Amino acid sequence: MLRGMIPEKPPLKTPEEIALMREAGKVVAEALRLARQMAQPGVTTAEIDRAVEDLFHQRGAISLFKGYPGRVPYPAVTCISLNEQVVHGIPGPRKIQPGDLVKIDTACKLNGWCADAAICVPVGEIQPEIRRLVQVTEETLQIAIREIGRKQWWSEVAALMQKHVRDAGFSVVEKFVGHGIGRVMHEPPQVPNYVSPQTKHADFRLVPGLVLAIEPMVNMGRKEVVELADHWTVITRDRLPSAHCEHTVALTPTGVQVLTLD
Ligand code: MF3
Ligand code: CO
Repeated sequence: MLRGMIPEKPPLKTPEEIALMREAGKVVAEALRLARQMAQPGVTTAEIDRAVEDLFHQRGAISLFKGYPGRVPYPAVTCISLNEQVVHGIPGPRKIQPGDLVKIDTACKLNGWCADAAICVPVGEIQPEIRRLVQVTEETLQIAIREIGRKQWWSEVAALMQKHVRDAGFSVVEKFVGHGIGRVMHEPPQVPNYVSPQTKHADFRLVPGLVLAIEPMVNMGRKEVVELADHWTVITRDRLPSAHCEHTVALTPTGVQVLTLD
């Protein structure tokens, strides 16, 4: 989500509510597994979107992306962003090619509870530097999942995420952040993947009952991004590749649980 929401108290969830979110998470994981299999040379991004839409329909799940308010309502059930596209790419007639880096993001509501996740799929022969970008981004998400069970404050986790990216020579996108999630897709708190004097004021304690959509966006070059004329697609300003992955993660009384796994 776009950085800049008003900070409020994050609504905490009971173990029973987290169990319901887990069911939504399984549908998201199934959708992304299908999308990963379909992401092959010659397949259009619209075909992948249609398959996810059909799956949500079969599972009785509601898309959280389609109709999402913006300058124009978001028109699809997935965001599919290629190469220099960072997030919010709109599926369409473009065919995936060997060498493309395909980021697929989707979210649904099932029985009143939401889940949100994203994967990064390298297609065919990928440049080694792009492979490393994907690996570092996935490691950054895993660091966050591990550390939210150990640290007191989100800023301590975000600092470790930022360090991992910077040590690799890449940059963290700051314009977009993760978010709390529950009965709606975007709840407080904002979940930045970096620390700065500004993020200090919106820091929050890592307490049982928090459910977060953690979603590092990592640019190979500089952190700056720009929005295209379609009012959705976000690309890197320097046109270098970007990677993104996301899980919905719950802090429970008995530990960290990733809700968007198969
Ligand atoms: N995972 C993204 C987010 O949390 C996707 C939102 S796309 C939109 O912001 F279509 F819903 F806007
Ligand atoms: Co999200």
